[in-house]
Amino acid sequence: MSDTFRLCHVDELPEGCSRGFDPLQQGQDSVLLVRWQGRFHAYLDACPHHGGTPMAWRKDAYLNAVGDRIVCHAHGAQFDIATGQCTLGPCLGQALTRLPIEQSPQGELCVPCHPLISKNGDNP
Ligand code: FES
Repeated sequence: MSDTFRLCHVDELPEGCSRGFDPLQQGQDSVLLVRWQGRFHAYLDACPHHGGTPMAWRKDAYLNAVGDRIVCHAHGAQFDIATGQCTLGPCLGQALTRLPIEQSPQGELCVPCHPLISKNGDNP
């Protein structure tokens, strides 16, 4: 198994957009990716308010209406896109789990496998 999961190519996610990924092929997205102010930010799709609740209200819908915060649609927690810190809602002081992004010279975006595998309780 590779040490990283490929998410997408940089050209596949426009500025100001978010997208979910299911790298473990479990039928539910476990990673979210946002392109914001020219940078990519990846987090586990797991709200810290209630033990890893998936946050999108529909496929790829992770942002608020103006696109400047990640939102958990279960209870409305808002998170800073750049840091993952909760800025509003029931989990103030907590943060999303950031995933480091590796970008290949060809523009492929990848995240490491181990945070995803450990989240599911499996040994790599
Ligand atoms: S589970 Fe995310 S705000 Fe409650």
